[in-house]
Amino acid sequence: MNFELKALAAKQIADLNADALIVLVPDAPDGSAGGSELQALLKPALADGQLEEGAGKTLMCYPAPGFKARRLVLVRCNEGKPVAVRKAVAGAMSQLRHPGVRRVGLVTHLLNLNPASLAGAISAIAEATYVFTTTKPTAKARHLQRCTVVADKVDHLRQGLQLGRARVAGIELAREWANRPANHATPGMLADAARKLGRAAGFKTQVLGPREVENLGMGAFLAVARGSAQPLRFIVMEYQGASKGDAPVVLVGKGITFDTGGISIKPAAGMDEMKFDMGGAASVLGTFAALAELRPRLNVVGLVPACENMPDGHAIKPGDVVTSMSGQTIEILNTDAEGRLILCDALTYAARYKPRTVIDIATLTGACVIALGGVRSGLFSADDELAAHLQAAGESALDPCWRMPLDDDYAEGLKSNFADMGNVAGREAGSVTAAKFLQKFTKGLRWAHLDIAGTAWKSGAAKGATGRPVALLLEYLLAEAERTPAAGASRAKRAATRK
Ligand code: BES
Ligand code: MN
Ligand code: ZN
Repeated sequence: MNFELKALAAKQIADLNADALIVLVPDAPDGSAGGSELQALLKPALADGQLEEGAGKTLMCYPAPGFKARRLVLVRCNEGKPVAVRKAVAGAMSQLRHPGVRRVGLVTHLLNLNPASLAGAISAIAEATYVFTTTKPTAKARHLQRCTVVADKVDHLRQGLQLGRARVAGIELAREWANRPANHATPGMLADAARKLGRAAGFKTQVLGPREVENLGMGAFLAVARGSAQPLRFIVMEYQGASKGDAPVVLVGKGITFDTGGISIKPAAGMDEMKFDMGGAASVLGTFAALAELRPRLNVVGLVPACENMPDGHAIKPGDVVTSMSGQTIEILNTDAEGRLILCDALTYAARYKPRTVIDIATLTGACVIALGGVRSGLFSADDELAAHLQAAGESALDPCWRMPLDDDYAEGLKSNFADMGNVAGREAGSVTAAKFLQKFTKGLRWAHLDIAGTAWKSGAAKGATGRPVALLLEYLLAEAERTPAAGASRAKRAATRK
């Protein structure tokens, strides 16, 4: 699918070659804009109240007399803020499910679209037309091929177009891998996907296997992988957009390609959904795909511990004590709390990079689903500034998160008589105690944890991966590139030479 910008005078909209036009209509549309054909449709629609107020309310005109496009959807977008534009585009796209709709025009003449709203519109069009076909070849592939965004002037929108495209590429890669069933997304396949992406996009990858991971002393990660016939993989990705010496941001993605619970086995109902338990890993891959397109001035490392959590003769048992890479010992009281076991060793590994920031992304706890549902990801960080940056990134990318507490009192339940810590506390505040566990492996790091158990996929009829939080992570990294001293220095230099 292709997104493009086209400068077009309002009076030429009727001649736009497309199967459908989506006309964004703000609450108070500019009465003079839009060209005579559009005004002829718009005026009565507004006068009769046929086009209701409220973002996403649509009025379908078919056929659309005077227009080259046979279908025209008028859709409300309030004042054109990103949330409203996303709602509007989603509403319009639901009217355009027909397979004959291969090319749409997004008409923005009635409002002043800004780059962030454009990126939101592009993401919404992609989301509305996404189809997973890898294991369902009979599914009708996406019929939309091209989206042309038209405005009087387009120069100020280019950045939004590029961001939108890269975000979509990242989200769709994440959705693809998270949607794949576990037999089509083993740790080895995930590692191959990272390698392939690195080759195509121009970043370094390195893949470690069981022996190397054992040599590193990652006893907690190894313990989870023991129960599976699929060998573990530890995937390392390095995107270099700044000078070599610049401290990177490290992203750590939980890559449990299937979570049965292990010996503490999960109930049968809904267990298929545990193929999404590598949603964190998928979001790191997706973020790297987007980074490679936008090439911000920043170094980013991606770490993915990938394995299955299976019950087996070799599997870890409740009560087993393992030694993590940090040297701290862990009593595994519940083998279903495996995410934190693979992440803790990856967090210890992350310190090697002397990173400026470490962010882990994980479908970590059912408790987070109960706390925040599918609307906001859980955000945990002891660093107020980092938390504020991630929150802001989530808001502007329409991929929001919500900060949760990390008081030390929450760690009480992790105490063990047989090891430095247990891997679970009680039922209460389960997403917080999981974060407290991870925090024990982040001494000296500027660290944040995103629990995406509720946001990475949807259950029910719309079952499938969402690609979250790629948009949040990408937005954060782009802002972070602007905050680097190097970027600041080069900005100052440019300003100086201008004088
Ligand atoms: N992958 C699950 C978390 C999860 C559960 C994600 C439901 C999405 C939906 C994780 O490995 C897990 O099993 N967590 C346990 C922890 C418990 C044993 C302390 C949970 O949340 O029940
Ligand atoms: Mn589990
Ligand atoms: Zn899990």
